[in-house]
Amino acid sequence: MEDWIKLVMSGDPRVVAGFVAGSIAGLGAGFTGGKIFGNWTLHRKLADSEKQLGALKASLDDSVNLWLRKVERPDDYVTTINRSIPIITVVNLKGGVGKTTIAANLIGYFSQQKRRDGSPLRILAIDLDYQGSLSAMLLTSAGITTHKTASNTLIDPRQSIETAKAKAENLRPKYENVWLYSAYEDFLEVENRLMMEWIIQRDPKLGDVRYELYRKLQSAGFLADFDLVIIDGPPRMTTGFVAALCASTHLLMPTIADKLSAPAAIRFLKQLEQLRPALFPATKLLGIVPSRTYRAESLTTKESGVIAALLSDLEKLHRIFDVNVFRNEIVPHTASFISAAGSELAYFDTQDAVPKQAITRLGAAIKQRIGLAG
Ligand SMILES: Nc1ncnc2c1ncn2[C@@H]1O[C@H](COP(=O)(O)OP(=O)(O)OP(=O)(O)O)[C@@H](O)[C@H]1O
Ligand SMILES: [Mg+2]
Repeated sequence: MEDWIKLVMSGDPRVVAGFVAGSIAGLGAGFTGGKIFGNWTLHRKLADSEKQLGALKASLDDSVNLWLRKVERPDDYVTTINRSIPIITVVNLKGGVGKTTIAANLIGYFSQQKRRDGSPLRILAIDLDYQGSLSAMLLTSAGITTHKTASNTLIDPRQSIETAKAKAENLRPKYENVWLYSAYEDFLEVENRLMMEWIIQRDPKLGDVRYELYRKLQSAGFLADFDLVIIDGPPRMTTGFVAALCASTHLLMPTIADKLSAPAAIRFLKQLEQLRPALFPATKLLGIVPSRTYRAESLTTKESGVIAALLSDLEKLHRIFDVNVFRNEIVPHTASFISAAGSELAYFDTQDAVPKQAITRLGAAIKQRIGLAG
C-alpha cells in the first residue's frame, strides 16, 4: 500500500482519481491472471481493497459526497459555534467574483473598529487559497516583503495549537491589531496530502481534518487573542475550504449580478445545503453581496432582476439558509479596486472615496448583523 499512498499524496486530485481507477484495473488483472487465485487470504484482501478503491473513486467523482463521509462532529460543536467569536468566511466557488477584494478590504475596515472597552478589535485574517491573493494584498499593503505559507499549520492535525498560534504574523506597524496566516503554492500539497490521509485513514490517531481549523480557532489560546476572524475562501472545494465551512459562524457570499454568475451562485448554495446539515449545522449565511456592480449607490434594473430571479430560484429549493441580500451595501466595479489588486487595499491606500464608502457601508451592516460592539 505504501507506494501508492506516496504517489497519490504527491499529486493533484485529478491524478488521484486516475490512479485509483488504474489500481482497480490492476487488481482485476491480478485476479484473472490466476497467480494469486489459490491464496484465499490475499484474495479476500484484494477484494476488500478493490471495494475501498471503488468507494474512493466514487467519492472523488463527486466532491460533495466525498466530504460527507463518516461525519462525527466534535462534542458540543453546535453550542460552541453558537457561542463563538464571529468567524466569517468569504465564499463562492465561482472565481473572480470579488471574494478576496471584499475580504481584504473588510479586514481593513474592521481593523479600525473598536471593542466594547474602546480598545481596537483584534482581527485574525486567514488565507486558504494557495494562489495567495489575500496574503499578497495584506502583506504588500503592510509593507512586509517576506511571504511564507503558514495556513498549513491551522488545518494540519499534526501541528499543535501552540505551533500554529506562533505562526500568526502581525502586520504592524500599519495594521497593529491584524494577524495573518498566509498561503502560497505549497499549501495545495498540504491540502491534498491531508485529504488523502483522511480518506484512507492511515493514522487512526490523526483527528478529522474537517474539524481541525474549528478545533484550533476554538482553543483557549486563539479565543483569548482575537475578536474576529475573516477567512478568504478559494474557488474550489478543497480541504481548507471544507475546514473553513466547519469552523465558520458566518458565510458571506459575493456574487456578480449577471446571468453568468447567478446560476453558479445557486449551484454553490445547493452544494452548501447538501453539506450543511451533517457538517456545519450552526453556520449562518450572513448574506449575498452584489459585487462589481455597474453603479456605486444602487443596483441597476437589470441587476435587481438577476437578484430577484436568483432569490426566486432559491425559494423553489428546500431552503435551509435564510437568504439576506445586501441590497444597499453593494460593492461597485471601480477602477481603484483593480489598480489596488494584489498590492494594496483600496479602502486604505487610494484617494478614491468610492471603495471607502462602499466598504464602510458593507462593514457597518455586517457589524450590526453579527452584533459586534463599538
Ligand atoms: N469591485 C471591484 N471593482 C473592480 N474590480 C474588481 C472588484 N472586485 C474585484 N475586482 C477585480 O476582479 C479580479 C478578481 O477579484 P478577486 O480576486 O477579489 O476575486 P475572487 O473571487 O477572490 O477570485 P478567485 O476566485 O480567483 O479567488 C481582480 O482583478 C480584482 O481586482
Ligand atoms: Mg480570491
